[in-house]
Amino acid sequence: MLQANDQLWLNDVIGKLTTKMDWVSEKSRNKIPYTTINGEHDNRAVDNPTGTETDGINWWTNGFWGGMMWLMHHETGNEKYKEIANISEVMLDECFHHYYGLHHDVGFMWLPTSVANYKVTGNMESRKRAMHAANLLAGRFNLAGGFIRAWNDLGEQDTRGWAIVDCMFNIPLLYWASEESGDPRFKQMAMRHADTAMTAFVRADGSVNHIVEFDPFNGGVVRTHGGQGYEEGSSWTRGQTWALYGFMMSYIHTGKEDYLNTAKRIAHYFMANIPESGIIPIDFRQPKEPAYEDSTAAAIAACGLIEIAKAVGQHEKEVFINAAVKLLKTLDESRSDWTTNSDCLLINGSAAYHNNNRHTPIIYGDYYFMEAVFKLKGNDLYLW
Ligand code: GLY
Repeated sequence: MLQANDQLWLNDVIGKLTTKMDWVSEKSRNKIPYTTINGEHDNRAVDNPTGTETDGINWWTNGFWGGMMWLMHHETGNEKYKEIANISEVMLDECFHHYYGLHHDVGFMWLPTSVANYKVTGNMESRKRAMHAANLLAGRFNLAGGFIRAWNDLGEQDTRGWAIVDCMFNIPLLYWASEESGDPRFKQMAMRHADTAMTAFVRADGSVNHIVEFDPFNGGVVRTHGGQGYEEGSSWTRGQTWALYGFMMSYIHTGKEDYLNTAKRIAHYFMANIPESGIIPIDFRQPKEPAYEDSTAAAIAACGLIEIAKAVGQHEKEVFINAAVKLLKTLDESRSDWTTNSDCLLINGSAAYHNNNRHTPIIYGDYYFMEAVFKLKGNDLYLW
């Protein structure tokens, strides 16, 4: 699939990545990192005194560290990664006890931890955790609108009718629960949500909305919100990638061609907007200055593009692979940190356009960069 010089580059990146993860994994073995501050991983595995906050142990990104450990275990066969993955998985049990701090991101949290563990080792405790999380996600389904509610109320803001595009990465937990239990209800809800997302989130030009607000009683669309992007009607790049790869995930689990075609439409929009530099902005419709960027969007897009390449015919593959390689090479050459001075792999991730957490390392950037390079090699452990 790769040209000889690209294969050499890929081997080099994987060498640097495995060398770095060898020591970072041990240094951060008892943490659940989200970002890197002054070179050190932070730790979200901290108690959440009220249990209702979405931060701390309930934070939505707390599955990625475990996921990185499972990918490294798969790549190297080294048992230490399995042990470290287990540490964070067990820590997450506290969230079930909290309950009120949980949200739709239970897929992001328990697919790369418990589902991964169960798939690799057959651990029945992990299966139980994942089933529990799937039931929590199913409990957020709104029958009138055919969508999964994203968040709990945000202070004064009533979010009963809010769905967000990121949820395309959470619904694979429902597909898994149906595949595992033989009960079709979970898959039915996942497909209803994906079908709703195809019409309510994806625009005619292949770009997507971040947030759609439905009437929670009759299911009608009330309005859209700009969410983490520049403004309403803009094009938050990480949101485009949650949709691009997310619809591929639904295609992988269901074989429904509409999902593949939707993923391709979003991918063509995304690829047409990749700047010459290969650096992905936070929003494709943001002002030119300041030149805010988001390395995490590039990494997630690369994963989705490689998955599309696997699903399409020979004559189509190249365009998706070439775009993925361009994104990953740019990250390697100008947005990575291969030194021992910092615990992260990538720099310049951005949580949101209107947020001070711009241009920092973020754990899901590292996770998806790792997933993408192993996928390109043909050796990824599919966790979604
Ligand atoms: N799922 C939230 C985000 O992408 O920041």
